[in-house]
Amino acid sequence: MKKIVIASIVALAATSSLMAAVNAAACVGCHGADWSKAALGKSKIVATLPHAEIAAALKGYKVDKGGPMKGLMKGQVSKYSDAELDAFALTIGK
Ligand code: HEC
Repeated sequence: MKKIVIASIVALAATSSLMAAVNAAACVGCHGADWSKAALGKSKIVATLPHAEIAAALKGYKVDKGGPMKGLMKGQVSKYSDAELDAFALTIGK
């Protein structure tokens, strides 16, 4: 019984650490591998944005805030928690 409980905890931990990482591979097609493209000719160049602005933009899209194409970005980020988006924002931009 104890073993089963421990195994489920390990499995749970593995699942949540998988979810924690924002899958940047899903973003590069529009934003460029180094975040230097204006996605679909519309977005700001994410590489030039401060981390805080990126975090605010990503969390904003989840609650329908943003530019004219915010609906598209909502689909990209709605599966992530605010904490995951905050952590990811620190890894891109400047
Ligand atoms: C299908 C193309 C596409 C994909 C895929 C995509 N984006 Fe975007 N992104 C856009 C567009 C278009 C905008 C501008 C939206 C608006 O009008 O606010 C944008 C805006 C942004 C912004 C804010 C920049 C600004 O203009 O204020 C950030 C940050 C961002 N995207 C990050 C991401 C991340 C992270 C992913 C992957 C999880 C991603 N994007 C995937 C097209 C895309």
